Amino acid sequence: MAGAGLSAVLSYAGRVESPRAQPVPVRTGGFGGAEGLAGYLRTHRISHLIDATHPFAAQMSTNAALAAQETGVPLIRLERPAWRPGPGDAWTPVPDIAEAVQATGETPRRIFLAIGRQHLAPFAARPQHHYLLRLVDPPVSSLPLPQVTLEIARGPFDTASDRALMQRHGIQMIVAKNAGGAGASAKLTAARDLGLPVVMIDRPRLPEAPTAASPEDVLAWLHADLGV
Ligand SMILES: NC(=O)c1ccc[n+]([C@@H]2O[C@H](COP(=O)([O-])OP(=O)(O)OC[C@H]3O[C@@H](n4cnc5c(N)ncnc54)[C@H](OP(=O)(O)O)[C@@H]3O)[C@@H](O)[C@H]2O)c1
Repeated sequence: MAGAGLSAVLSYAGRVESPRAQPVPVRTGGFGGAEGLAGYLRTHRISHLIDATHPFAAQMSTNAALAAQETGVPLIRLERPAWRPGPGDAWTPVPDIAEAVQATGETPRRIFLAIGRQHLAPFAARPQHHYLLRLVDPPVSSLPLPQVTLEIARGPFDTASDRALMQRHGIQMIVAKNAGGAGASAKLTAARDLGLPVVMIDRPRLPEAPTAASPEDVLAWLHADLGV
């Protein structure tokens, strides 16, 4: 957007303590549901809405679809393609977090729980596992899991260091969300290299919306709509 000389404001939820610097103005914090977002679009005379949230941010994508419908502001969702297993991968696909917990099994294991910090509590139902968590910021409150090792790091990650991380911690299984894209895929290549099983959580269902698979496609949509 900045490179194309288009004026834009980037919205963060405010989950990360010090987000990366951005070449466009940034605002931070929730809008107050779909209604709040619709109000923001009107007040700030927003002409186009780009939902570039993570594929698992289902609430925000739903709010964006509802606010676009209510205000008539054209919406596009940037949706990078989901990861697919290839030869040598040992994936167990599961529909949600609850099934991922089940899929970790009864036998105590050392698990790389690569799902961020928001949905850790359900894994307390399997306290026999040791969990390796990789988080952007150190947690401010105590974690709901009894046996945890923390790795504080921000992506993108590469295969060699993810392989070394898994070897260093004696990892036997990976639990991941199917985020897609290149920034977090190294752990899957590392798992394949090490012959480790992956419990892969499918994406949540989102409301219908026009989608683009890359930022370039979003820009093309904008230019077409603006007639420039
Ligand atoms: N879920 C993940 O695995 C994941 C991974 C990496 C990054 N993220 C990013 O982290 C943010 C929060 O994710 P989530 O899963 O908690 O979202 P969510 O469950 O879909 O959204 C919960 C609430 O957070 C606020 N929110 C979310 N994204 C926002 C944004 N970009 N700008 C302003 N407010 C936002 C909204 O509050 P109001 O209703 O008050 O507007 C929304 O209702 C998202 O922007 C997402 O792209 C998520």
